[in-house]
Amino acid sequence: MSKALIVSRFKKSLKDYKANAFVQKEMAKCLCSLIPGDDFNSVLEIGCGSGLLTEECIQRIKFKDYMANDIVSECADYIFKINSEISFLFGDIEQIQLNRKYDLIISNAVFQWIKTPDLLIKKLKGCLNSDGMLLFSSFGRKNFIEIRELLGIGIDYYEYQGVVKEDIFELEFQSVTELFKHIKNTGVNSVINYRLTRGKLVELEDKFIKRYGKIKLTYNPIYVMLN
Ligand SMILES: C[S@@+](CC[C@H](N)C(=O)[O-])C[C@H]1O[C@@H](n2cnc3c(N)ncnc32)[C@H](O)[C@@H]1O
Repeated sequence: MSKALIVSRFKKSLKDYKANAFVQKEMAKCLCSLIPGDDFNSVLEIGCGSGLLTEECIQRIKFKDYMANDIVSECADYIFKINSEISFLFGDIEQIQLNRKYDLIISNAVFQWIKTPDLLIKKLKGCLNSDGMLLFSSFGRKNFIEIRELLGIGIDYYEYQGVVKEDIFELEFQSVTELFKHIKNTGVNSVINYRLTRGKLVELEDKFIKRYGKIKLTYNPIYVMLN
């Protein structure tokens, strides 16, 4: 999937993201509860978006220096509104050079968009201070299982070392249109580049009911801790 598509979908969803990202909010809370300690010199947040995790983090920890990164430049406006002391680092975390070390590198619901997670993890581990920690959430194989089973599309979820927790959430919808609206408003439709015609909509609704008895979407968050 192209980075340009990821940027364009997330840019469009920024405004509505927080109101729709129920699961990502729970993930941000859970991720923060896993942070060891509460006082850090330097923090790097990857893929900050409109600041769901940023808000949770700054309530949970003290820091001297907090750098929030995103591939979408417009995220800076959201982050500065949350806390003007946070710095914004624009760019693709897989490409940009990080020339300092951090005590905590944290990220919520971003690694599924990373092309080469193994290389990124290696790079980030090289940017940790000696007792530093890389803590992030992403998604496991059961994520959006319904879309994979009924439409045969989706992304490949990477098998991470260092998974410390895994969850399952099921969201129920009144219609397939509502389900797709939810996906669009959370920017995830770069995964599901699918044209829904009226005929396909009816057919898909029927498939959902036959297979699951309802219209639902499974989220499978995973939490990874590495040092
Ligand atoms: C699902 S949103 C999560 C936003 C935020 N972390 C939260 O907790 O709500 C994913 C974010 O990752 C960003 N992103 C995706 N790929 C990226 C990359 N290679 N480098 C930096 N940010 C990236 C997107 O622009 C988007 O803001």
